[in-house]
Amino acid sequence: MEVHTAEFIASHPRESQCPKDGRPEFAFIGRSNVGKSSLLNMLTARKGLAKVSATPGKTQLINYFLINKTWYLVDLPGYGYAKVSKDKQKILASMIKGYLFQRESLKLAFVLIDPNIPPTKIDLEFINGLGEHSVPFALVFTKADKLGPVKIQQNIDVFMQELSKSWETLPPYFTSSAERRTGKAEILNHIDLVLKAK
Ligand code: GTP
Ligand code: MG
Repeated sequence: MEVHTAEFIASHPRESQCPKDGRPEFAFIGRSNVGKSSLLNMLTARKGLAKVSATPGKTQLINYFLINKTWYLVDLPGYGYAKVSKDKQKILASMIKGYLFQRESLKLAFVLIDPNIPPTKIDLEFINGLGEHSVPFALVFTKADKLGPVKIQQNIDVFMQELSKSWETLPPYFTSSAERRTGKAEILNHIDLVLKAK
């Protein structure tokens, strides 16, 4: 699939305020700073569309981008950023969960994972939470430019093995680098498949 148009639509603090037009949507979620906004910009080939920052905690609202006038990409705030206040963390966590667990037009959540570090408890718990609420998801291992391909694959294997302790069927996964612009075709193809599935 080609991205012909990508427009920022709006930012919302809660699911109940999000668009009600029923267009299918795909969301990016993951630990703060894992590269959600960068991936959105890479997929749409629009550099400043979603705000990127070296400081974790940049995205603090549910951000809607309309793609090809037909479906939405949704950039969510990250979880697990220790440096924001406890109150703010609670607000962000309920914003993320409120969105993911209630959103009927959500076709698939892409959970972004950093394969440059060992599996984290917070990612594994988050994924298990999606399972408990039957949220359909796929994984994207980001920042794949930071280690060699062999090491990245080894780390991905370790992560998938960890997941297989609690999941009978493993989710599809993709590998990406916003820096090198890799993974784009595979992720867009997967979105296309989901859009075309009944
Ligand atoms: P929050 O909105 O704060 O949760 O962060 P985010 O997940 O949206 O991450 P963002 O896209 O803002 O990127 C965080 C940092 O990681 C920035 O400094 C990016 O330049 C960097 N980054 C993102 N993707 C990649 C990548 O593929 N490779 C490398 N090396 N750095 C990346
Ligand atoms: Mg962001």
